[in-house]
Amino acid sequence: MYSPLFVLAMAALATATTPTTIGTGFILVAHVTNPDQDFTPSVNNVAVNSIHASPGFRVATVSSSLTDGHVFYENGTLDQVADGETTVIFDSATPLTPFGILVQDPSAPIDNIAINAGPGSFNNLATDPEPRPVLVNGLGDGTYLVCNATVPYYRQNFMTLQYAYEGETVPENCVPVQLVPQCAVLNELPPGSHSSHEHALSVRCYSDATAVDWS
Ligand SMILES: *[C@@H]1O[C@H](CO)[C@@H](O)[C@H](O)[C@H]1NC(C)=O
Ligand SMILES: *[C@@H]1O[C@H](CO)[C@@H](O)[C@H](O)[C@H]1NC(C)=O
Repeated sequence: MYSPLFVLAMAALATATTPTTIGTGFILVAHVTNPDQDFTPSVNNVAVNSIHASPGFRVATVSSSLTDGHVFYENGTLDQVADGETTVIFDSATPLTPFGILVQDPSAPIDNIAINAGPGSFNNLATDPEPRPVLVNGLGDGTYLVCNATVPYYRQNFMTLQYAYEGETVPENCVPVQLVPQCAVLNELPPGSHSSHEHALSVRCYSDATAVDWS
């Protein structure tokens, strides 16, 4: 066992060697928590995006190409930050409309995460108590998962994003991941957009999330 002070020192060191910067836009890069459980091909360093599954409804998936990752932003006021009530959004459709990451309630069964038109559920890039920025589900402790799961709309398997709350069994077709923000350009919205970046928060993100020392 390492002493808590040693762990803190190592975390500080890791932070020092992989600096974060401040930005509004970011992609979410999955880091497989336990490499022994990884899929073949690996889902380490894949980026979160989504697939259409009916109007206004998308299923969160991952792509091995980081350039296919959605550019997200954390939305809310500083009061909402303090209360853990911000959400994580990307702009989609025409005119551009906010689609928020929507994790199921703790009482609902584990399922593919939706990215629906609307605000989404509480999610934030907490850096406290986390030593580094990762996506934290504001609805309850647990872990994000990448799963080889069926998307009913296509009756086909995709690598989807899911969430298991503490105490829930991680399904066999899933691996726990941390979702790490990598800074990305949040484009200006064209006139007529339904989306707004007025409340896009400044967050800490990595210039290269794949280079972060996870040990
Ligand atoms: C973003 O946050 C602002 C401030 O709370 C809120 O008015 C707006 O509705 C939010 N946007 C979405 C898409 O939830
Ligand atoms: C996903 O599951 C399907 C159906 O069980 C299987 O054919 C496919 O090989 C799996 N893909 C991965 C990457 O494990």
